[in-house]
Amino acid sequence: MKILVCVAWPYSDGPLHLGHIYGAYLPADIFARYHRMVGNRVIMVSGSDEHGTPITFAAEREGVSPAEISERYHRINVQIFEKLGISFDNYSRTSSINHKEVVKEFFLKLYNKGYIYEGEMVSPYCPTCGRFLPDRYVEGTCPYCGYEHARGDQCDNCGRTLDPQELINPKCRICGSTPEFRKTKHLFFSLSKFEEPLKKWISEKDYWKENVKKFSYNFISSGLKDRAITRDIEWGVEVPVPGYEGKRIYVWFEAVIGYLSATIEYSKKIGKEDLWKEFWLDENTRHYYFIGKDNIPFHTIIWPAMLIAHGDLVLPYDVPANEYLKLEGGKFSKSSGHGIFMPQILERFDPDIVRFYSALNLPELHDSDFSWGDFYSKVNTELIDKFGNFVNRVLRFTKTKYGRIPPLYDLDDDDFQALNKIRETGENMARLIENVELKKALREWLSLVYFGNQYFDRSAPWDVCKVDDRKCSTKLHISLMILKALAIYGAPYIPFTSQRIWRMLGNSDDITNYRWIDAISPLEQFHLPEPEILFKKLNYIKFENMQKLDMRVARILEVKDHPNADRLYLLNVSIGDERRTLVAGLKSYYKPEELEGRYVIILYNLEPAEIRGQVSQGMLLAADDGERVSLLEPTEKVEGKRVRIGDFQPEGVKIIKHKEFAKIKFEVARVESVGEKITLKGSRDYVLDEKLDDEMRGKEVILLFEGDSPFILRTDNGVIITDKEIKPGAGIR
Ligand code: MF3
Ligand code: ZN
Repeated sequence: MKILVCVAWPYSDGPLHLGHIYGAYLPADIFARYHRMVGNRVIMVSGSDEHGTPITFAAEREGVSPAEISERYHRINVQIFEKLGISFDNYSRTSSINHKEVVKEFFLKLYNKGYIYEGEMVSPYCPTCGRFLPDRYVEGTCPYCGYEHARGDQCDNCGRTLDPQELINPKCRICGSTPEFRKTKHLFFSLSKFEEPLKKWISEKDYWKENVKKFSYNFISSGLKDRAITRDIEWGVEVPVPGYEGKRIYVWFEAVIGYLSATIEYSKKIGKEDLWKEFWLDENTRHYYFIGKDNIPFHTIIWPAMLIAHGDLVLPYDVPANEYLKLEGGKFSKSSGHGIFMPQILERFDPDIVRFYSALNLPELHDSDFSWGDFYSKVNTELIDKFGNFVNRVLRFTKTKYGRIPPLYDLDDDDFQALNKIRETGENMARLIENVELKKALREWLSLVYFGNQYFDRSAPWDVCKVDDRKCSTKLHISLMILKALAIYGAPYIPFTSQRIWRMLGNSDDITNYRWIDAISPLEQFHLPEPEILFKKLNYIKFENMQKLDMRVARILEVKDHPNADRLYLLNVSIGDERRTLVAGLKSYYKPEELEGRYVIILYNLEPAEIRGQVSQGMLLAADDGERVSLLEPTEKVEGKRVRIGDFQPEGVKIIKHKEFAKIKFEVARVESVGEKITLKGSRDYVLDEKLDDEMRGKEVILLFEGDSPFILRTDNGVIITDKEIKPGAGIR
């Protein structure tokens, strides 16, 4: 069978976080690896989604070009996929010439068939900037909840989707002027024409996930409207129709065509120009789309409608969309910085540990919750204790006793049961993976791990070997067969580990050359190399309190006197996209002009508090030695950056209470020397196994304590320091 595994194209506006991996990439990879192992022809494609307002916005925030942003995160994300072993056959990008050509051809085909037509639309136009504004570039008050920083496409406070015209008091987010609403022409895709064919098509998908099917059906039932598929933006794919030189194709309309363009590109790359046709023109090819649930309508309605309009191409076979991964109950999101980012997690953990835990916790039917406690406990007990120990016990015993894989002699009932268990596990897993029930399939694999441990214990080779060598040999052979089956059946989930076990079983080639059914055949009597330990047990530092911290870099925009208190200021600060008001007791220490424009550190998720009639939305952090007060300052001056604790990025809960914050211990320490290790002077002397730049010598940094261990507060590319000298050992308030 031919299988095209399509995976949602991530915007290249930031590094991927664990939510993306759970939602799409890992399930797609498990699925693709499995199908390769049963001998199906698989092509797995995706790429960076480089256009649209997510990219231009990130670019404007940093004051660089969209191309630069996209290039940076494309690279970072490619590395993440490599490290994590996501086995794309082609990971492309939407800025490639190939993609643009395929998109234009697709577009013209629909245009020439009459499915794309010209129409008019009212859009916000900024007279000062002299341009039409994408929805996201307009900000104003939400008509539903009154939130003042709602965007033209959505209100982040109440979650409603909006039209820019609905905003009360709309403003251009670039220059602050009030936009006008002007008529402008755009090209529209006649989505409405496909209402009936889509309804019929979806109604036949009885094997789809219930929620995907329901959602799609409801979406259609509320009526399909034609959609504008051009935008007033300069960054994107050119519209191949005269009169549209200043406009670009809407990012979603072109990105979905990437599934096709990336397959075509792959065919060219491997020198089989026409290979893509076998996958896109033959009805018997199955196309699976791995996406998060927010992408459902684009993949079950709009893209299929585009494909029907096109006429020649294969429609999706299944769209096994996943629910969300929650972090302490909050939604992961790139733009708000709430999440566990892949570069950091892959620095700390073996990729298979991340894959294993993620697969065990996939949000297949319901949202799932990530918690570090659960992560450490599942990884330590299931993967490292149960699985790791089984591997180690069997290999070590056999190696010591025979030095090679011993032969299989007569089987008793227990041995037959073991062989049955191996076969059944393979069959059950196959059925489940083919149904995209990957979490359940991994549970089956674990049941073989448990079985293996019990079988080995029951067989007690350490006793049997003293009395019956043939039996001992047989018991060990079967234990090794269980191990081999675990390697083969585990390969889609923990490919790196499977390969290591494969070597430890005496093979010198790649496990991916083998097939699912090879798991049930007896082993060749290879010589066994010295077995290695698969994983070191994870050392769980609880980070209980500091886990809750969400500290960020902010910039002070404006300083006003507190109307009802002599010693307090009201500060207006900007944290990337967001503005907040803080109350701070700094009047005796800083003049307003010393504060305005400065970068500072704030406790972002502190429970809002009313201080003399004014609400403080967070807290400005300062060091205080009893005489002097010094603000904390980032050396990396980028608004919105999250503060890390050593190399640890706290999750940050929604709200931390004053009481909880007060329990966390901070202190100021002066850097005495840097090098392989650093030495610091605080309330006592510290030596830390960390790196700091040379110029940090003599500066004062901030330590946070978890138990007795100090960690330095940092941002990705900088350190947090005090702005003036203060007594080492001073606290933070
Ligand atoms: N970039 C989109 C997102 O992150 C997904 C695009 S998927 C594709 O939500 F269909 F356009 F490829
Ligand atoms: Zn403007």
